[in-house]
Amino acid sequence: TAPEILRNFCIIAHIDHGKSTLADRMLQATGVVQPRDMKAQYLDRMDIERERGITIKSQAVRMPWEVDGTAYALNMIDTPGHVDFTYEVSRSLAACEGALLLVDAAQGIEAQTLANLYLAMENDLTIIPVLNKIDLPAAQPEKYAAELANLIGGDPEDVLLVSGKTGVGVEALLDRIVAEIPSPVGVADAPARAMIFDSVYDSYRGVVTYVRVVDGALTPRQRIQMMSTRASHELLEIGVISPEPNPTKGLGVGEVGYLITGVKDVRQSKVGDTVTDLAKPATESLGGYEDPKPMVFSGLYPLDGSDYPDLRDALDKLKLNDAALVYEPETSAALGFGFRCGFLGLLHLEITRDRLEREFNLDLISTAPNVVYDVTMEDGSEAVVTNPSEFPTGGKVAEVREPMVAATILAPSDYVGAIMELCQARRGQLKGMDYLSEDRVELRYRLPLAEIVFDFFDQLKSKTRGYASLDWKAEGEEAADLVKVDILLQGEQVDAFSAITHRDKAYAYGVMMTGKLRELIPRQQFEVPIQAAIGSRIIARENIRAIRKDVLAKCYGGDITRKRKLLEKQKEGKKRMKMVGRVEVPQEAFIAALSSD
Ligand code: GTP
Repeated sequence: TAPEILRNFCIIAHIDHGKSTLADRMLQATGVVQPRDMKAQYLDRMDIERERGITIKSQAVRMPWEVDGTAYALNMIDTPGHVDFTYEVSRSLAACEGALLLVDAAQGIEAQTLANLYLAMENDLTIIPVLNKIDLPAAQPEKYAAELANLIGGDPEDVLLVSGKTGVGVEALLDRIVAEIPSPVGVADAPARAMIFDSVYDSYRGVVTYVRVVDGALTPRQRIQMMSTRASHELLEIGVISPEPNPTKGLGVGEVGYLITGVKDVRQSKVGDTVTDLAKPATESLGGYEDPKPMVFSGLYPLDGSDYPDLRDALDKLKLNDAALVYEPETSAALGFGFRCGFLGLLHLEITRDRLEREFNLDLISTAPNVVYDVTMEDGSEAVVTNPSEFPTGGKVAEVREPMVAATILAPSDYVGAIMELCQARRGQLKGMDYLSEDRVELRYRLPLAEIVFDFFDQLKSKTRGYASLDWKAEGEEAADLVKVDILLQGEQVDAFSAITHRDKAYAYGVMMTGKLRELIPRQQFEVPIQAAIGSRIIARENIRAIRKDVLAKCYGGDITRKRKLLEKQKEGKKRMKMVGRVEVPQEAFIAALSSD
């Protein structure tokens, strides 16, 4: 296909502004999908995505569209909508020349709209502003067209009005794509260079890799090379998706499609990597490649210790489809055998946990999520801490650095005070504030990642009656006065409850955790102190008073079989007890204490 008739674009939008619905409507309008074959949200393939209404894996579909007698080919590249997947979004954008900036006509611009717009601008994309859901009675097209025009510079009249639901404006939108988005530019006779913007594991075909060809061409049977690892593979199949995979004779300059090499693990086909020709390799990769970096760690343990091998198998399987997932075995005195797992963010953690429980039928306990700390010791040695219980203690720590994020918060101006208060309490530094319109403000903060990964978003929502939106990206690290708080049961450390907090918040954590455990751990035959400590210094303490438990007293004079049954039951109960030193703790107590409230 000649580059002149190609248009590569993506849709950037805040979550729920109707991206998938509009994409489906375009597939219909271009005849790629017949109305009777339409299942809602054609592009969201994974069930879990459909249930949660989010898009995790980006894909690309080719659509024919004719303008003035010329047949064009439009490649629509789907971008994931959530902050955890910023890097994948940036690679999808890098595969395009243009972006539709889609905004809900009843909601206006939100934090992800902005974050994605900034990414699109960094990639020099042509932006087409679109207001969606104009069929809604609550739509305010004039107000928000002005807001959009103000944001990207331009005339409110140039903002397209569409409805993914009714189809209004969709054909005009397709015409605008052809008219305004530049066709791709590349060197046809140069060594092949194609950028991987997604790769998906398929149990029948192995890894399906989505690429955008920049220079040269890729053809079936060719031997290709991955430039980051120098690994080479044979191209077994190459083609375009429209809307099912169609093998072709190859992909040329500017084309977007898929390729299959038979590899079985997405780590062999890394997002951001450059594909070249093994026989005639390019000298320079396309750049922008980054290894996925886990930001949030949590321990995952099977509720039933005998499920440990199943958990390991399940993680091995998930990994085939998720290059960002990392894990290694770990043992906890309180929880037994499990894995320390690293995730891109909290949503990534939740999705993974969900899949492990649902697709693999496992019951899991997860420890409170934590970020990664870089520690410099006084002797100059360095440590990377992904598990709080391994945080070095004593006076030998010279400096602890924690990951920081740049956060963008958008909200009606009435809530500025409440948002500032929240960010202040989370150790945030205000970096800037802009009015997008009279009543809507953008606040930019630098915040420690650890302060936003837990309940920040929920707090933000509740303090702004649901009106605020949040987006963030990683932004370096910073030294802070951080300490490890340990929880001790009768003097024994319970590893699963160790936490790294800012010194000012250590006391609150200690009081909260010891209080929680006092409620949850049943009385023993002896008094049990529950303490919170920083190193050897106790900062909070609770006591569980002793009881003398005598189950047989209950059936005094009763018949012997009842007695036996009771003893039997007590034995069973014991199995689900964990011993911490001499203290018996029901596993439920640990689980309840780890649950976040
Ligand atoms: P993510 O994929 O999760 O980012 O969401 P999305 O932006 O793709 O939104 P989606 O297409 O799932 O739409 C979100 C909700 O808005 C759904 O309930 C849709 O039915 C509804 N919706 C989408 N487009 C329109 C529209 O044009 N009009 C109306 N009234 N509702 C719409």
